[in-house]
Amino acid sequence: MCGIVGYIGSKDSTKVVLEGLKMLEYRGYDSSGISIYDGKKIVLKKFKGRLSVLSDYLKNNPLKGKIALGHTRWATHGEPSDRNSHPHLSADGNFAVVHNGIIENYLELKEDLINKGYEFKSDTDTEVIAHLFEELFTGDLLDTAFKVVKKIKGAYAAGVISSLDPNKIVALRKESPLVIGIGEGENFIASDVPALLPYTKKVIYANDGDIALITSDEVRVFDSLGSLVDRKIDEIKWTLDAATKSGYPHFMLKEIFEQPLALKNTFERRLNDKGKLKLDDIKIDKKYLEGIDKIYVVACGTAYHAGLVGKHLFEKYLDIEVEVEIASEFRYKKNFVTDKTLVIIVSQSGETLDTLMALKSSKEKCARILAITNVVGSSVAREADDVVYTWAGPEIAVASTKAYTTQLMVFYMLMLDFGFKLGKLNSFEYEKMVKSLKKEYKYIEDILRSKSKIKKISSSFIKIKDAFYLGRTFDYYLALEGSLKLKEISYIHTEAFPSGELKHGPISLIEKGTVVIFISTVKDLSEKTLSNLREVKARGANTVVIANKGCNIFEGTADTIFEVKGKDEFACFEVAAIMQLLAYYTSTLKGIDVDKPRNLAKSVTVE
Ligand code: M6R
Repeated sequence: MCGIVGYIGSKDSTKVVLEGLKMLEYRGYDSSGISIYDGKKIVLKKFKGRLSVLSDYLKNNPLKGKIALGHTRWATHGEPSDRNSHPHLSADGNFAVVHNGIIENYLELKEDLINKGYEFKSDTDTEVIAHLFEELFTGDLLDTAFKVVKKIKGAYAAGVISSLDPNKIVALRKESPLVIGIGEGENFIASDVPALLPYTKKVIYANDGDIALITSDEVRVFDSLGSLVDRKIDEIKWTLDAATKSGYPHFMLKEIFEQPLALKNTFERRLNDKGKLKLDDIKIDKKYLEGIDKIYVVACGTAYHAGLVGKHLFEKYLDIEVEVEIASEFRYKKNFVTDKTLVIIVSQSGETLDTLMALKSSKEKCARILAITNVVGSSVAREADDVVYTWAGPEIAVASTKAYTTQLMVFYMLMLDFGFKLGKLNSFEYEKMVKSLKKEYKYIEDILRSKSKIKKISSSFIKIKDAFYLGRTFDYYLALEGSLKLKEISYIHTEAFPSGELKHGPISLIEKGTVVIFISTVKDLSEKTLSNLREVKARGANTVVIANKGCNIFEGTADTIFEVKGKDEFACFEVAAIMQLLAYYTSTLKGIDVDKPRNLAKSVTVE
């Protein structure tokens, strides 16, 4: 995690860096700092706490300089504190470093540097980089960077400035994301594009192993072998407005409300005038599909839950078995990936380290990698053989909302595409499903209009300690996401169970007032769900049911019923929107900073 920003040019560099960090706070927000070269020396200011602590300080104590590096932190090594905040300086104060990632061999390097007389001021892994620059300095910052990267192991996106070789920033990248912004008479580095949008839309996505030399007039990129390379300059298509709150009180609410449009973008922009999907970004044909020995979906968190929905769709409509794996587990357990396996990697950010590593290990076994991601040019997108972008627009809130529903949409699209190619779906079925999907973004709008009913239910959640989400088969997969959403932003303990498991243990947790939320979109299973509802009701639970319109059997038993209009599992988008709003209102009514829940960060670029 962590966000880094660097600027070199004639503008007020403090302002540029602070604005950039503001856009990156989703990456970490337990401390922040800035280093500026003031023409003679490097000046450093850093504080524990939100970015506002740093910006308030700088309002009263302005720093001046044309080169600056900034950092917003999510602690990995060392507690959040002033001294562990970045940037870190070398012992002689001539080098400043900001870093996102983890230096795996830092203990070994630290010991060696201590033996050489270096004194460490923080508990971080990053500080070794600053001291290594001092130790290995040749008189040239770029030249030294090549020496430093030979010593460090692990993941890093880092920016370095020096008062001994000023007027440049050197940036290093391995596994953690790094974008270089190209301006006129000014240039930038950042962990993510939103930090650059007020200034430029021209960016270079640094590759793994790249080292870049950035001055105000030029950007030169060298690959891991030290050769000067010509990296493509991409033009960002989205606007700053898409990355700001646009009048909403929180990014999360904005992103929930963006779903109808996001889903339309994901789906309809790929429909040709005959109503058929055209997935340009994938080259998977019938012959390849017929030769697959296995499909794995690998992801973390919400993306994993989207993968479970994908499994259900592939198994139900294509009769193809799918294994869904949590990326951090998949990496370390025995798997059965071969050169005939299709591995579908799902990641909003495209930078989640566990997911990226699972991708790489599957690639080593020659599997074909199909990525579903939101971030164009992300590491996952670049490593994959085929990519389907979710086109949801930037998702800033830590809790994933529109990224999830657009991932679900991509799984529907893949099911349709593969199903048609394999002859498992005829034209009639295909067209019927396309119609059902097109209805969904309209139905979500109806859910969003009923937000006050959802808010009312949330107000009864603010004092509860536990909540349970129950569902069977497909509904259980949706329940898992509802549970994660409420848990991560309200700090209420939540769990999801397959409803049938209730009697095998969890029912002992049900007492008067316990909140139990049932999802019931699988028509054939609604009677069974009703029995489970009765069981918890009999023990005093406060029950909410989300069920298909017209399924009246829960009336008179459930305390609250939300109806969804989509047919069967097509209603998953609406179910998600209800669960997101329940979580959002519960969190905000509790006074929690919903966009930045404690201990979490948007992009998890550490193991
Ligand atoms: O960027 P990714 O989709 O790879 O992120 C995966 C998870 O870290 C993410 O979904 C996380 O669980 C969110 N906090 C969920 O809201």
